Amino acid sequence: MEIDEGKFFRIRLSTIRADKVTDFKIYLLIDGHFVLYLRAGDKLSDAKIGLLHGRDSGNSFFVRVEDRETYRQWVRSEMNSETINSLDKAKILRESALAIMEDLFENPDVNKALDDSRPIINDFVTFMGREPEGMSYLISLSGHDFYTYNHSLDVSIYALGLGAALSFSPANLEELGVASLFHDIGKRSVNLDILCKKGPLSDDEWTQMKQHPQFGLIILDQHPNMSDAIKAACYEHHESFAGNGYPQQLVGNEIHPYGRIVAITDTYDAMTTQRSYNSPMSPFDAVTMMKEKLAGRYDPDMLKALYSVLFKMKKDTA
Ligand SMILES: [Fe+2]
Ligand SMILES: [Fe+2]
Repeated sequence: MEIDEGKFFRIRLSTIRADKVTDFKIYLLIDGHFVLYLRAGDKLSDAKIGLLHGRDSGNSFFVRVEDRETYRQWVRSEMNSETINSLDKAKILRESALAIMEDLFENPDVNKALDDSRPIINDFVTFMGREPEGMSYLISLSGHDFYTYNHSLDVSIYALGLGAALSFSPANLEELGVASLFHDIGKRSVNLDILCKKGPLSDDEWTQMKQHPQFGLIILDQHPNMSDAIKAACYEHHESFAGNGYPQQLVGNEIHPYGRIVAITDTYDAMTTQRSYNSPMSPFDAVTMMKEKLAGRYDPDMLKALYSVLFKMKKDTA
């Protein structure tokens, strides 16, 4: 959706806590027009939030682009608040990121969308560092609906957990997070009817779908500031450790480590997420299937690390 030549950006209403004064204006999109809903300096009451949540389809609330930094500061101050518990912080962080992710796949200016979404990862890494159970809560919120933008964010969250379990340095963790966020960016170039099709794809449709790693590489190559590792994760995330993946049929360690990680977290998310045409697998069943039926496709050490992230997580949130 092209929105008034980029003058507004989407927010999720669930990032706004009742009875806290906002220092930016919030608009509603009604019949294609932006209508001022909340003045800066006002606050939403609980009742109003409850009423509005019914309408929060994720795309009806907006803030002016010039207030983007103010909104980001708002989210950060919520992250630092001592009166909000870790689970609510994880929810706010996730919801604020999802609105940005929608733009990543829909904004006509892809380079701008790539730049805008990159700081998401920094916020997640900071949150993980500050809140001991942060990763567990983030993981517990993942996997409800399958959209390309939810999926990309969830693949990133799992990858950050995996990277942390593999003792990645903060700089590598951040790069891995960004790489995972952009792994399916090439789906911008796949026909929407194919992306949204319920049920199996025809041979021709599948051929186009399988080109999304190349399409992604083309998009990332046109950006002035993308590392080779980020491009590799995008181009190589459908390679298989056994050598029968696509597009290059790389084998084992020929695949970039970020590509090997995204291959795991990508499949895991697809298996455990609700889609309209299948029911999700439990985390345990998904990992067991990846270890047994799909053995050989994934880096075995990394698959073990995923296991430890998920089942350590279960203990933490139990
Ligand atoms: Fe993909
Ligand atoms: Fe994916």
